[in-house]
Amino acid sequence: MDNKAEISRIEDIDIEGVGRITLKKLVDAGYSIELLVTLPPQVIAREAKINVKKAILISEYVRKAYFGEVKNFVTAKELMDRRKNVLRISTGSNTLDELFLGGVETQAITEFIGEFGAGKTQLCHQLAVMVQLPVEKGGLEAKALYIDAEGTFRPERIIQIAKYRGIQPEQALENIIYARAYNSSHQIYLAREAFRMVKNEGIRLVVLDSFIGYFRSEYSGRENLAVRQQKINGHIHDLYRLAVSLNVAVVITNQVISSPDVFFGNPQRPAGGNIIAHASTYRFWIRKGREGKRIVKVLDSPYHPESEAIFTITENGIIDL
Ligand code: GTP
Ligand code: MG
Repeated sequence: MDNKAEISRIEDIDIEGVGRITLKKLVDAGYSIELLVTLPPQVIAREAKINVKKAILISEYVRKAYFGEVKNFVTAKELMDRRKNVLRISTGSNTLDELFLGGVETQAITEFIGEFGAGKTQLCHQLAVMVQLPVEKGGLEAKALYIDAEGTFRPERIIQIAKYRGIQPEQALENIIYARAYNSSHQIYLAREAFRMVKNEGIRLVVLDSFIGYFRSEYSGRENLAVRQQKINGHIHDLYRLAVSLNVAVVITNQVISSPDVFFGNPQRPAGGNIIAHASTYRFWIRKGREGKRIVKVLDSPYHPESEAIFTITENGIIDL
């Protein structure tokens, strides 16, 4: 999406009735223009501790400056045109790409679900390299932002995958911007910082591995469930706005939990409940098969077929069987 922003700093906001003190509160709350464009005014008001009416004014102002005249109604044709801007990142496996209908999409959240060792983190590494490839090789000639909430990112792995894909290892490492998240609040903060990073750095892929880990450990127990789900809700919607407003692919990983009360069918289900289920655009479940095989199944998708793909993990990364 084109960047039409005529204002780049919060200090440039010029609205009657919105003074310096309010603007300072926004700065202090850690906001950037990009974030103000996409966050609901109610959230801005609550977080920056400003009046809701002012938040609405600010929100409308920055959106106009950013996108031009605001259009509330669009035709289905315009909607279709917006969809045309969707870009795809190849996974490096043909069968997987087929299942993903061409690759991992921008303007969407793609979620990889699976038990430990399923290959979620490997896929994240893989995509962080693939996005760098030229378009004819399945990439977007762009950088990746990698938010690591589990401490499992390995530059050595990037080097191996990059070599196999014909990218200079040094270059591949330079093109991945890495941040380690230390707890759920920090993770939320980093996801918001991502708005600024994505715009300034030519990033087309944002990885968050894993989305759920900290929330599960920090908010365990039934009594914390409501707060946890509320936090998860805000966080995943930040990521969705990031994906849509800046035309980037957002990839998150999720764990599985077992329901002891299920006697028929699969007792395993994705963690995070309905909120993640609804907010993720595409959900893929990865299972471990025999002899290093990995089976991927589409969980929810508006238009992907209900089918499976099989890939394998090697030293060179993810490849077809
Ligand atoms: P958790 O984060 O624990 O939930 O698991 P995950 O789904 O992220 O698993 P991950 O992506 O870390 O997959 C780990 C698996 O990938 C290992 O068990 C190996 O089977 C495979 N793997 C990782 N690196 C290599 C490699 O260099 N060569 C080969 N052959 N396999 C590898
Ligand atoms: Mg992992």
